[in-house]
Amino acid sequence: MRVITSVRIMQHLALRWRRQGVHVAFVPTMGYLHAGHLSLIRRARRLARSKGKVVVSIFVNPTQFGPTEDFARYPRDFSRDRKLCREAGADIVFAPDTKAIYPRDFSTYVVEEDLSWRMEGESRPTHFRGVGTVVAKLLNIVLPDVAVFGAKDFQQAMVVGRIKRDLNFPVKIVIAPTIRERDGLAMSSRNRYLEGPLREQALALSRAITKARGAIRQRTAIQADALRSELRTFIEQQSAMRVDYIEFFDPVTLQPVHSVDRRTHMALAVFVGSTRLIDNAALDGGRP
Ligand code: PAF
Repeated sequence: MRVITSVRIMQHLALRWRRQGVHVAFVPTMGYLHAGHLSLIRRARRLARSKGKVVVSIFVNPTQFGPTEDFARYPRDFSRDRKLCREAGADIVFAPDTKAIYPRDFSTYVVEEDLSWRMEGESRPTHFRGVGTVVAKLLNIVLPDVAVFGAKDFQQAMVVGRIKRDLNFPVKIVIAPTIRERDGLAMSSRNRYLEGPLREQALALSRAITKARGAIRQRTAIQADALRSELRTFIEQQSAMRVDYIEFFDPVTLQPVHSVDRRTHMALAVFVGSTRLIDNAALDGGRP
């Protein structure tokens, strides 16, 4: 496995692979890898097959963090990440620095204007502009045939799919399932911030999904507002928890629904102390 930090060298290699007909599978990450990322890399390995190449990018993208968010303290451990990438079957780790991706006079952004507004977009107004821009850049640098994103960031995956379609990126977007700890907590690099009792309290996110599923199993449809307020009360029973949003929506259009049924998708963002966690799931599934 090789580590590349230069945009020019990465793109040069990608162009050579393209000319040679080498199939490339790509996993963009911000590093501090956990089992969720590793499942994406293994999926990319299978998609690339034995003769193809797997590229993993590690770049903590400043433009997707708001001014009061955790960019500076976002966990980083490059040597551990590099080892994990090798073990999971990556061929290249692409790890540019900020200047390589955003030169001083950088002034071009990608803004998706439909799926981005609600949920994460409402709470983090510049977030998807940063994600859309860096993903577009990474796709242009790595030139993959297929890129793998996690369902844990469901809205992100949908926004990326729309950008790919609208801007005609010749890449297939694959969405891989959320990986959870044994007790149901969705894997996230930010879980490392959860100290002491916060780790236990954070289980309220996946439990809220289980509760919503249970409610739907008992009735054909439920008013979204009633279910939202029941789940908010359930989550905020825990002293350190504050709900940012709980949304019920159509999984294709991301439009909120008034009446929740088995076809509905649910997403939530909750502050656990000062750590903001997100989770989501289709309400027709089993254990989230
Ligand atoms: O999901 C992430 O880790 C990031 O948002 C991504 C897609 C790597 C873009 O920085």
